[in-house]
Amino acid sequence: MQTFHHAADLARALAPYRRVAFVPTMGNLHEGHLALMRLARSHGDAVVASIFVNRLQFGPGEDFDRYPRTMDADRAGLEREGVDMLFAPTDQEMYPVPQLFRVRPPPLGDELEGAFRPGFFDGVCTVVLKLFNLVRPQVAVFGKKDRQQLGIVRGMTQQFNLGIEIVASETVRSADGLALSSRNGYLSAAERAEAPRLHRVLRRVADAIAAGRRDGAALEAEARAELARHGWQVDYVAIRQGPELRVPSPEALASPADVIVLAAAKLGATRLIDNVDAVPSRATR
Ligand code: PAF
Repeated sequence: MQTFHHAADLARALAPYRRVAFVPTMGNLHEGHLALMRLARSHGDAVVASIFVNRLQFGPGEDFDRYPRTMDADRAGLEREGVDMLFAPTDQEMYPVPQLFRVRPPPLGDELEGAFRPGFFDGVCTVVLKLFNLVRPQVAVFGKKDRQQLGIVRGMTQQFNLGIEIVASETVRSADGLALSSRNGYLSAAERAEAPRLHRVLRRVADAIAAGRRDGAALEAEARAELARHGWQVDYVAIRQGPELRVPSPEALASPADVIVLAAAKLGATRLIDNVDAVPSRATR
């Protein structure tokens, strides 16, 4: 695997390839990221991963400084997966001058994650657009774990006519259901034992909808209360529908095929997010 710190060198190396599949990451790679690499392999003749901890998407007081940076282990994992090229730009390469132009996402960007992390999706979209312009892939792979990010990036790609196919990859979970995340490493042993409850609670809400319950607000409230009872500080539990994550009416819940239940909550100092489909085998959207 070749590593590039400068976009111009990466562009030269990519010139012979016809279909570049790209996986942007912030590093500290786990099995969930490696699954993205494997999916990318099936979509392109060259697979490029990027590792860049993007300060634009972290708010004041968030974990930018302590975000785990594990480049040697990450490189080894990418090598094992047969990734062809790693783009690991410096801050200077990505933001040689202060980034004054930003992508402003649609109102969905101010909901759910955006409501609790103001400016998060501006930062994500801005860096993803820059990475797309530097790597110039034909395909890019994003995880369903960050469901709102997936939808917003897909919308940006369509509305700016970027001509990049966005492929979604299923969330990878531990045997106890906890979605793999770089932030799981912050959990104490006791918090790690409690953490799978988030997925269980979401699954229960989703199964209730699939079984015919339509009182979405009551289901959300029950889920929030259960998490709070077990020491979680809940940002949101939200039942949404479709790729635009719109708020469903009770009648809409009668067709649960594209209903998604999302949550974000803190255990101690660690904020976890997760989501599940009401009908789990649905094709990735
Ligand atoms: O999902 C992430 O790791 C980041 O938000 C991304 C897409 C790499 C942009 O920094």
